[in-house]
Amino acid sequence: MDSQLRTHPTTYAYTHAYFPLFYDLWVTSLFGTGADAISPLLCRLFPHTPSPKILDIGTGTGAVIRALPAAANGAEIWAVDHSEAMLARARETTQREVHWVCASAASLPEVEVDLAVSAAGGVGHLVDREERKAFLKGLARVLRQGGVAVVSVLRDEEEGNGEGDGAQAEVLALQSEDRIVYKKTPTTATWAGDVRTDRFVVERWVGGERQWRGECQWSILARWDDERWRAEIEEAGLRVSEVVDGEIQRWWVLEKRE
Ligand SMILES: C[S@@+](CC[C@H](N)C(=O)[O-])C[C@H]1O[C@@H](n2cnc3c(N)ncnc32)[C@H](O)[C@@H]1O
Repeated sequence: MDSQLRTHPTTYAYTHAYFPLFYDLWVTSLFGTGADAISPLLCRLFPHTPSPKILDIGTGTGAVIRALPAAANGAEIWAVDHSEAMLARARETTQREVHWVCASAASLPEVEVDLAVSAAGGVGHLVDREERKAFLKGLARVLRQGGVAVVSVLRDEEEGNGEGDGAQAEVLALQSEDRIVYKKTPTTATWAGDVRTDRFVVERWVGGERQWRGECQWSILARWDDERWRAEIEEAGLRVSEVVDGEIQRWWVLEKRE
Protein backbone atom coordinates (compact mmCIF):
# COMPACT_ATOMS: atom_id res chain seq x y z
CA MET A 1 0.00 0.00 0.00
CA ASP A 2 1.41 3.42 -0.87
CA SER A 3 1.77 6.42 1.40
CA GLN A 4 -1.44 8.28 0.49
CA LEU A 5 -3.64 5.23 1.04
CA ARG A 6 -1.81 4.42 4.27
CA THR A 7 -1.93 7.99 5.62
CA HIS A 8 -5.54 8.74 4.62
CA PRO A 9 -7.20 5.30 4.74
CA THR A 10 -10.81 6.52 4.68
CA THR A 11 -10.45 10.15 3.62
CA TYR A 12 -8.11 10.10 0.60
CA ALA A 13 -10.06 12.39 -1.76
CA TYR A 14 -9.43 10.50 -4.99
CA THR A 15 -10.87 7.25 -3.64
CA HIS A 16 -14.35 8.61 -2.84
CA ALA A 17 -16.83 7.32 -5.42
CA TYR A 18 -18.41 10.76 -5.93
CA PHE A 19 -15.14 12.73 -6.04
CA PRO A 20 -14.05 12.21 -9.68
CA LEU A 21 -16.87 14.23 -11.26
CA PHE A 22 -16.13 17.00 -8.77
CA TYR A 23 -12.42 16.75 -9.68
CA ASP A 24 -13.21 17.43 -13.35
CA LEU A 25 -15.50 20.37 -12.54
CA TRP A 26 -12.95 21.80 -10.11
CA VAL A 27 -9.96 21.50 -12.45
CA THR A 28 -11.94 23.18 -15.23
CA SER A 29 -13.01 25.99 -12.88
CA LEU A 30 -9.41 26.50 -11.69
CA PHE A 31 -7.52 26.19 -14.95
CA GLY A 32 -10.10 26.30 -17.73
CA THR A 33 -9.81 23.82 -20.53
CA GLY A 34 -7.01 25.58 -22.40
CA ALA A 35 -4.48 26.67 -19.78
CA ASP A 36 -1.43 24.50 -19.78
CA ALA A 37 -3.02 22.09 -22.22
CA ILE A 38 -0.75 19.12 -22.70
CA SER A 39 -1.85 18.46 -26.30
CA PRO A 40 0.85 20.53 -28.09
CA LEU A 41 3.58 18.79 -26.09
CA LEU A 42 2.08 15.36 -26.73
CA CYS A 43 1.86 16.17 -30.45
CA ARG A 44 5.48 17.24 -30.57
CA LEU A 45 6.81 14.28 -28.59
CA PHE A 46 4.47 11.68 -30.02
CA PRO A 47 6.48 8.65 -31.21
CA HIS A 48 6.71 8.07 -34.95
CA THR A 49 6.72 4.29 -34.65
CA PRO A 50 3.92 2.31 -36.39
CA SER A 51 2.05 1.04 -33.27
CA PRO A 52 3.37 3.09 -30.38
CA LYS A 53 2.76 2.17 -26.77
CA ILE A 54 1.74 4.91 -24.37
CA LEU A 55 1.56 4.78 -20.57
CA ASP A 56 -0.36 7.39 -18.58
CA ILE A 57 0.61 7.33 -14.91
CA GLY A 58 -1.82 8.78 -12.36
CA THR A 59 -4.33 8.90 -15.19
CA GLY A 60 -7.09 10.22 -12.92
CA THR A 61 -10.24 10.78 -14.96
CA GLY A 62 -8.31 10.23 -18.21
CA ALA A 63 -7.51 13.84 -19.24
CA VAL A 64 -4.23 12.84 -20.92
CA ILE A 65 -5.84 10.03 -22.88
CA ARG A 66 -8.50 12.42 -24.13
CA ALA A 67 -5.73 14.85 -25.15
CA LEU A 68 -3.74 12.35 -27.22
CA PRO A 69 -3.28 13.39 -30.85
CA ALA A 70 -5.10 11.69 -33.71
CA ALA A 71 -1.87 9.81 -34.40
CA ALA A 72 -2.60 7.82 -31.24
CA ASN A 73 -5.51 6.02 -32.89
CA GLY A 74 -3.42 2.95 -33.56
CA ALA A 75 -1.57 3.14 -30.27
CA GLU A 76 -1.65 0.66 -27.42
CA ILE A 77 -2.57 2.66 -24.33
CA TRP A 78 -1.92 1.77 -20.72
CA ALA A 79 -3.26 3.81 -17.81
CA VAL A 80 -2.31 3.44 -14.15
CA ASP A 81 -3.96 4.96 -11.10
CA HIS A 82 -4.27 3.77 -7.51
CA SER A 83 -7.88 4.94 -7.25
CA GLU A 84 -10.63 2.66 -8.63
CA ALA A 85 -13.02 5.62 -8.44
CA MET A 86 -10.88 7.82 -10.72
CA LEU A 87 -10.34 4.90 -13.10
CA ALA A 88 -14.10 4.29 -13.25
CA ARG A 89 -14.71 7.85 -14.48
CA ALA A 90 -11.77 7.62 -16.89
CA ARG A 91 -13.37 4.49 -18.38
CA GLU A 92 -16.65 6.35 -18.79
CA THR A 93 -15.17 9.45 -20.39
CA THR A 94 -12.59 7.98 -22.78
CA GLN A 95 -13.99 6.30 -25.85
CA ARG A 96 -11.11 3.99 -26.58
CA GLU A 97 -9.57 0.70 -25.68
CA VAL A 98 -7.18 1.13 -22.78
CA HIS A 99 -5.41 -1.29 -20.46
CA TRP A 100 -6.60 0.11 -17.13
CA VAL A 101 -4.39 -0.83 -14.18
CA CYS A 102 -5.23 -0.06 -10.57
CA ALA A 103 -1.77 0.15 -9.02
CA SER A 104 0.70 2.49 -7.44
CA ALA A 105 2.91 4.67 -9.60
CA ALA A 106 5.72 3.08 -7.61
CA SER A 107 4.99 -0.35 -9.13
CA LEU A 108 4.37 0.20 -12.82
CA PRO A 109 3.14 -2.70 -14.96
CA GLU A 110 5.43 -4.97 -16.96
CA VAL A 111 5.20 -3.16 -20.26
CA GLU A 112 7.65 -1.42 -22.60
CA VAL A 113 6.47 1.94 -23.91
CA ASP A 114 7.53 4.70 -26.30
CA LEU A 115 5.91 7.51 -24.33
CA ALA A 116 5.10 7.71 -20.61
CA VAL A 117 3.22 10.66 -19.10
CA SER A 118 2.55 11.80 -15.56
CA ALA A 119 0.43 14.95 -15.80
CA ALA A 120 -1.07 17.69 -13.63
CA GLY A 121 1.55 17.45 -10.91
CA GLY A 122 0.56 13.91 -9.90
CA VAL A 123 4.19 13.17 -8.97
CA GLY A 124 3.78 15.63 -6.07
CA HIS A 125 1.64 12.97 -4.39
CA LEU A 126 4.72 10.73 -4.14
CA VAL A 127 5.68 12.31 -0.85
CA ASP A 128 7.79 9.39 0.26
CA ARG A 129 11.34 9.49 -1.14
CA GLU A 130 11.48 5.71 -1.62
CA GLU A 131 8.21 5.86 -3.58
CA ARG A 132 9.56 8.59 -5.82
CA LYS A 133 12.71 6.58 -6.41
CA ALA A 134 10.67 3.45 -7.20
CA PHE A 135 8.52 5.52 -9.61
CA LEU A 136 11.59 6.84 -11.45
CA LYS A 137 13.24 3.38 -11.54
CA GLY A 138 9.96 2.02 -12.90
CA LEU A 139 9.96 4.74 -15.57
CA ALA A 140 13.49 3.76 -16.61
CA ARG A 141 12.36 0.11 -16.80
CA VAL A 142 9.21 0.68 -18.86
CA LEU A 143 10.77 3.18 -21.30
CA ARG A 144 11.99 1.67 -24.52
CA GLN A 145 15.49 2.91 -25.50
CA GLY A 146 14.76 6.12 -27.42
CA GLY A 147 11.42 6.53 -25.65
CA VAL A 148 10.41 9.67 -23.78
CA ALA A 149 8.75 10.36 -20.44
CA VAL A 150 6.98 13.61 -19.56
CA VAL A 151 6.53 14.34 -15.86
CA SER A 152 4.75 17.47 -14.69
CA VAL A 153 5.54 19.29 -11.46
CA LEU A 154 3.25 22.10 -10.31
CA ARG A 155 5.15 25.38 -10.36
CA ASP A 156 3.76 26.52 -7.03
CA GLU A 157 5.42 23.51 -5.51
CA GLU A 158 8.69 24.06 -7.35
CA GLU A 159 8.77 27.60 -6.10
CA GLY A 160 8.08 26.49 -2.53
CA ASN A 161 5.01 28.65 -2.11
CA GLY A 162 2.36 26.03 -2.68
CA GLU A 163 -0.68 27.03 -0.72
CA GLY A 164 -3.03 24.63 -2.43
CA ASP A 165 -6.18 26.52 -3.18
CA GLY A 166 -5.65 28.64 -0.07
CA ALA A 167 -7.06 31.56 -2.03
CA GLN A 168 -10.56 30.08 -1.87
CA ALA A 169 -12.21 31.99 0.98
CA GLU A 170 -15.78 30.75 0.77
CA VAL A 171 -17.62 27.59 -0.10
CA LEU A 172 -17.13 26.86 -3.80
CA ALA A 173 -20.24 25.63 -5.63
CA LEU A 174 -19.96 23.97 -9.03
CA GLN A 175 -22.68 22.49 -11.17
CA SER A 176 -22.37 19.68 -13.68
CA GLU A 177 -24.16 19.57 -17.03
CA ASP A 178 -26.82 17.31 -15.51
CA ARG A 179 -27.43 19.76 -12.67
CA ILE A 180 -25.55 17.92 -9.95
CA VAL A 181 -24.16 20.53 -7.56
CA TYR A 182 -20.92 20.09 -5.66
CA LYS A 183 -19.92 22.30 -2.73
CA LYS A 184 -16.35 22.44 -1.43
CA THR A 185 -15.19 24.11 1.77
CA PRO A 186 -11.96 26.13 1.73
CA THR A 187 -8.88 23.95 2.19
CA THR A 188 -7.05 23.79 5.49
CA ALA A 189 -3.37 23.07 4.99
CA THR A 190 -0.94 21.68 7.57
CA TRP A 191 2.77 21.20 7.00
CA ALA A 192 5.22 18.52 8.13
CA GLY A 193 8.62 19.40 6.68
CA ASP A 194 8.20 19.70 2.91
CA VAL A 195 4.90 17.85 2.90
CA ARG A 196 1.59 19.70 2.96
CA THR A 197 -1.63 17.91 3.88
CA ASP A 198 -4.78 19.48 2.47
CA ARG A 199 -8.15 18.89 4.13
CA PHE A 200 -11.56 19.96 2.84
CA VAL A 201 -15.13 18.73 2.70
CA VAL A 202 -17.05 18.09 -0.50
CA GLU A 203 -20.82 17.70 -0.71
CA ARG A 204 -22.87 16.44 -3.64
CA TRP A 205 -26.41 17.76 -4.06
CA VAL A 206 -28.92 16.20 -6.45
CA GLY A 207 -32.36 17.78 -6.95
CA GLY A 208 -31.95 19.95 -3.85
CA GLU A 209 -31.05 16.96 -1.63
CA ARG A 210 -27.61 16.28 -0.22
CA GLN A 211 -26.57 12.88 -1.49
CA TRP A 212 -23.02 12.73 -0.15
CA ARG A 213 -20.68 14.51 2.22
CA GLY A 214 -17.03 13.48 2.12
CA GLU A 215 -14.09 14.42 4.30
CA CYS A 216 -11.27 14.78 1.79
CA GLN A 217 -7.51 14.77 2.30
CA TRP A 218 -4.29 14.28 0.41
CA SER A 219 -0.63 14.99 0.96
CA ILE A 220 1.64 16.80 -1.45
CA LEU A 221 5.37 17.28 -1.58
CA ALA A 222 4.80 20.99 -1.73
CA ARG A 223 8.34 22.31 -1.48
CA TRP A 224 10.04 20.91 -4.48
CA ASP A 225 13.82 20.61 -4.47
CA ASP A 226 15.11 20.66 -8.05
CA GLU A 227 18.56 19.45 -7.07
CA ARG A 228 17.14 16.48 -5.18
CA TRP A 229 14.80 15.73 -8.12
CA ARG A 230 17.63 15.87 -10.66
CA ALA A 231 19.74 13.55 -8.49
CA GLU A 232 16.81 11.10 -8.20
CA ILE A 233 16.38 11.18 -12.00
CA GLU A 234 20.11 10.46 -12.54
CA GLU A 235 20.13 7.70 -9.96
CA ALA A 236 17.23 5.97 -11.69
CA GLY A 237 19.18 5.78 -14.97
CA LEU A 238 17.32 8.61 -16.66
CA ARG A 239 18.39 12.01 -17.92
CA VAL A 240 16.61 15.32 -18.38
CA SER A 241 16.39 16.11 -22.08
CA GLU A 242 14.23 19.21 -21.81
CA VAL A 243 12.28 21.30 -19.31
CA VAL A 244 9.18 23.02 -20.68
CA ASP A 245 7.51 25.82 -18.70
CA GLY A 246 3.76 25.99 -18.60
CA GLU A 247 1.74 28.56 -16.70
CA ILE A 248 0.93 26.31 -13.76
CA GLN A 249 3.29 23.41 -14.26
CA ARG A 250 6.72 22.56 -15.53
CA TRP A 251 7.11 19.58 -17.82
CA TRP A 252 10.23 17.49 -17.28
CA VAL A 253 11.05 15.53 -20.43
CA LEU A 254 13.12 12.51 -19.51
CA GLU A 255 14.98 9.87 -21.48
CA LYS A 256 16.70 6.67 -20.62
CA ARG A 257 20.47 7.03 -20.23
CA GLU A 258 22.46 4.81 -22.61
C1 LIG B 1 -3.63 15.60 -9.90
S1 LIG B 1 -4.46 14.14 -10.42
C2 LIG B 1 -3.98 14.08 -12.11
C3 LIG B 1 -4.96 13.32 -12.95
C4 LIG B 1 -4.74 13.39 -14.46
N1 LIG B 1 -3.45 12.92 -14.85
C5 LIG B 1 -4.98 14.79 -15.02
O1 LIG B 1 -4.15 15.24 -15.81
O2 LIG B 1 -6.02 15.39 -14.70
C6 LIG B 1 -3.43 12.91 -9.68
C7 LIG B 1 -3.89 11.47 -9.93
O3 LIG B 1 -2.80 10.62 -9.54
C8 LIG B 1 -3.29 9.54 -8.77
N2 LIG B 1 -2.19 9.16 -7.88
C9 LIG B 1 -1.64 9.88 -6.87
N3 LIG B 1 -0.66 9.19 -6.28
C10 LIG B 1 -0.59 8.00 -6.93
C11 LIG B 1 0.21 6.84 -6.76
N4 LIG B 1 1.14 6.76 -5.82
N5 LIG B 1 0.01 5.80 -7.58
C12 LIG B 1 -0.95 5.84 -8.56
N6 LIG B 1 -1.75 6.90 -8.76
C13 LIG B 1 -1.56 7.97 -7.96
C14 LIG B 1 -4.52 10.07 -8.05
O4 LIG B 1 -5.40 9.01 -7.69
C15 LIG B 1 -5.09 11.02 -9.10
O5 LIG B 1 -6.02 10.35 -9.92
